[in-house]
Order: sequence, then structure tokens, then C-alpha cells
Amino acid sequence: AANDKFILEIPKVELHVHIEGTLTVDMRWKFTQRNSAKLKLFSNGPEMHSLEEIQAAMQATMPDPTRMNNNEERDIFFESYFEGFQALQTKEDYYDLAMNYFEQAASMNVRYCEPFFDPQGHTSRGVHWDVMMGGFKEAQMEAEERLNIKSGWIMCFLRDSPVESAMEHYKAALPYRDMIVGIGLDSCEEDRPPVLFEEVFTLARRDGFKLTMHCDVDQKDTPEHIRQCLSVVAEGGLDRIDHGLNISDHQNLIDLALKRDLALTICPWSYLRMTTYAQLGPRIRALYDAGIKITINSDDTAFMDDCWILHNMLAAKRLCGFNDGDILVLARNAINVCWALQSVKEKMH
Ligand code: ADE
Ligand code: ZN
Repeated sequence: AANDKFILEIPKVELHVHIEGTLTVDMRWKFTQRNSAKLKLFSNGPEMHSLEEIQAAMQATMPDPTRMNNNEERDIFFESYFEGFQALQTKEDYYDLAMNYFEQAASMNVRYCEPFFDPQGHTSRGVHWDVMMGGFKEAQMEAEERLNIKSGWIMCFLRDSPVESAMEHYKAALPYRDMIVGIGLDSCEEDRPPVLFEEVFTLARRDGFKLTMHCDVDQKDTPEHIRQCLSVVAEGGLDRIDHGLNISDHQNLIDLALKRDLALTICPWSYLRMTTYAQLGPRIRALYDAGIKITINSDDTAFMDDCWILHNMLAAKRLCGFNDGDILVLARNAINVCWALQSVKEKMH
């Protein structure tokens, strides 16, 4: 349809995509085959002996927007997501993973992106920083040359890992800091509030990194976590919040977000595990109508039925009743709030 062509063709910036969340079962199969490694969908599950077998098992874990989803489905997602890391062993694996993302994003006219990576999920298996960052770097440089898509990485700490591990990884990443624009926080949020990571985020701010954290949807204590991100952590708050949909339920958080000119990275498909179709549209719409700078992103494409930024923009349009003008505002929000150099931003407007 003509409108879909409009969404496809506008220049885009993507600010919330976990590179490990773009790891498809096809890639998991390919990498484990060439590395002569075993393949499972879940760490406590059976070994997979064919591509078809893991494809079928994966399909059963996809979010289904026609039913009410819940925390159990989230747990299944996390288990499959972290088991996926096992497939990544060589520099070529990391290069192929990142290159696949850049190819897909470029095909949807993404011109600049800030993908997340979770170093702790790699170093904990004995993968060396040079293997991981080397593969990412090679793909990043090739993508800029060949696909006209620029990027800067956001290094995320796993919030359910010890705080000391975050600090160790922060220090170990400094030799690669020319690749990294920002620091984030992801993984399971329960009883892991932002203030636990105060020290490493304050250090990162002083070192010149941009800061963001996940405040997932409808988790225990999410509004309090949002409040900490807005006004407490890192000497007065972060630069962005990832998700933060619960801001829509609290006028005081809306007011604070507006006062701080806070940007949110929204990933509509991701919330269909936690919310219903009917609730989701009005909540995103409320943030937009309040004047908060929201952006539309994909989160974990391989775990969301192959939904990329394009499909998330289409979902936002349908769920929220956005017109083309609104879509353009959302796309421009992402250009304005990204952490690229001003000269790069200007070329995208
Ligand atoms: N890591 C990868 N995907 C995530 C998500 N949706 N929420 C929290 N952490 C994540
Ligand atoms: Zn995320």
C-alpha cells in the first residue's frame, strides 16, 4: 500500500535493538555447524539435530498478540535469548551477526543505529574481547562503506549479574571506547533497581558516555525504577530510557519526563508478551500526545517473529492511529535524540 511505501522509504534511526536479539535460529544452526558445537534452544532443553527442529521449537515461543501474555513467556524469552549466546564463538560469528543486522536495517532505510551488546554474556563463556569487538567493528566499517549506514554501539550491563561485574566490564571495554557511544542496562529487572548501578553509571558519565537503562513494561517497581532513571542515577538522571511505557500511567512521571526532555525508545511488538493489543495503542498514544519524545524500534527481531523497525512502525500506526505526519515526527525524534555527531544528524534531516 502507498502508506507502507511511505514508512519504508523515510530515512530512519534505530536506537533500541539488541544485536544478540537479532540472532535467528538459522544463524544459531549455521554457526554451531561450522564450529562443530552442540545446539539447544534452552540450556536445560534437548539438543537440536536439524534446522527444521529448532525452527519449529522456536516458533512455539513467539509472542501471540491474540492472547494475553505474561511473565512466564518473558522467562521463556530470556532463556532462549541467553542460550543463543552459546552459538557465538569466532570473530566470523560476530561479524556475520552484526552484518545481517546492518543489511536488514539498511534495506529499511535505517541510516544510523545504536545497537546494544551484552559483553558479560560473551566473556563469561571465555570469548575474548578482541573476538567480539573485532567482529562487530569489521561489520560496522563495512556497513558504513557499502550500505551507507553509520552506527555507534551501546554496551549494556546485565542487571541481574553482580554490580562488581558491571564495573569490571566497564574498565575492560575502555580500549574499545571509540566504538561505544553509550552505556545501558538490560536483562531481568526484578529487584534490580537502577540505583544499584549508581557508581559505574556516574563514572561513565564523567568519562563522556551517554547513558540509558531499560525500564521494562509492567514489572514489579517499574514506576520507581523510572523515577530513579529520571532524577537520581548519575548525578541527576540519564539521557534516555529504554521502554518506559509505564510513564503513561503516572502524571508525575509524564511531567518529569517533559521537564527533563527525556527520550524513550519504544518497541511495540516487544510489549505484546506483556500487554494486550487493546491496552497498548492508547498507552503509546498517551506518551506521544503528552509531547514526550518517543522513538519506534525493534528490540529483539529474532524473538518477535522477524519484526523489524518497519513492522514496529506499522504496528504503531495501526495501534495508535498515527498518520504519515505522526510517523515522520517519530522518525525525526530518533534523529534528534540519537548520539551521533551533529554533522551526521544534519545529513539525515
Ligand atoms: N535483553 C534483550 N532483550 C531484552 C528485553 N526485551 N528486556 C530486557 N533485557 C533484554
Ligand atoms: Zn531491549
